[in-house]
Amino acid sequence: MGRFISRRRFLTYAAGAAVGTGLYGVAWEPRRFHIADESVVIRGLPQALYGLKVVHLSDFHRGHWVSEDHIGRAGDLARTLDADLVVLTGDFVTGRASYAWSCLDALGSIPSRLGTFAVMGNHDWWTDSTVVRRALARAGVHVLSNAAVRITLDDSPLWLLGVEDMWSPAFSLAKAVYAAGSNEPRILLCHNPDVFATASAWGLDLVLSGHTHGGQVCLPGIGPLLLPIRADRRLASGTHRVGRTSIHVTRGVGVVAPPVRINCPPEVSRITLHPEADYPVA
Ligand SMILES: [Fe+2]
Repeated sequence: MGRFISRRRFLTYAAGAAVGTGLYGVAWEPRRFHIADESVVIRGLPQALYGLKVVHLSDFHRGHWVSEDHIGRAGDLARTLDADLVVLTGDFVTGRASYAWSCLDALGSIPSRLGTFAVMGNHDWWTDSTVVRRALARAGVHVLSNAAVRITLDDSPLWLLGVEDMWSPAFSLAKAVYAAGSNEPRILLCHNPDVFATASAWGLDLVLSGHTHGGQVCLPGIGPLLLPIRADRRLASGTHRVGRTSIHVTRGVGVVAPPVRINCPPEVSRITLHPEADYPVA
């Protein structure tokens, strides 16, 4: 014969579970890094770029809630991923631009054959993006500001486009697209995945974004709770494709307030490029 528990005991259990989940979300999960190992197919990928590994980190948010040690762990993980190219898609700081110096020092250099490239995020703009850009330059990171750079491996080309944050007055995807060639593979770095539909309309091959933190708290049956995007909620995290354009949205390294992650651990991503079998190779 079953027995009902008293209302008082039920409330005690519920409060205990809530406190336990909160402590887990604040003290444990934000430190439990996940490595996202993804593959993306690119039309016309030159043979020399088959298997190219792009290591992608974002949303460090160095500041009151995110320590140098935490960012150092992300850097240590990234250095194990045998990168050919490293990209950093914004939000290096929270609250104060001067945190950018310790963010980049803690991250350390991540060796790669083709270098490290970055774009600004909304938090970099909200503090002082000039200081953040200076810290990136000192660390040897190339910042792409509505611009494009043609990188080559064994004479095979790949365009890397980067734009200012979509919430800043400086954002211009058109400038970056016009700066790039159109007959060679094009990868866009944009902090905010809301750019995806436009990038797809331009026929870009791959978009790498952050900004969402995966929602920070993902509840079963509900999904991500904190999602600062207007686009499809599926763009909260992961890899998706529409037509010829793929996107990878990383959950990022750090957190913003409330400094909690539940069912949404921080992430370091590695995207491996593959050719599309039924498309002529350049
Ligand atoms: Fe962010």
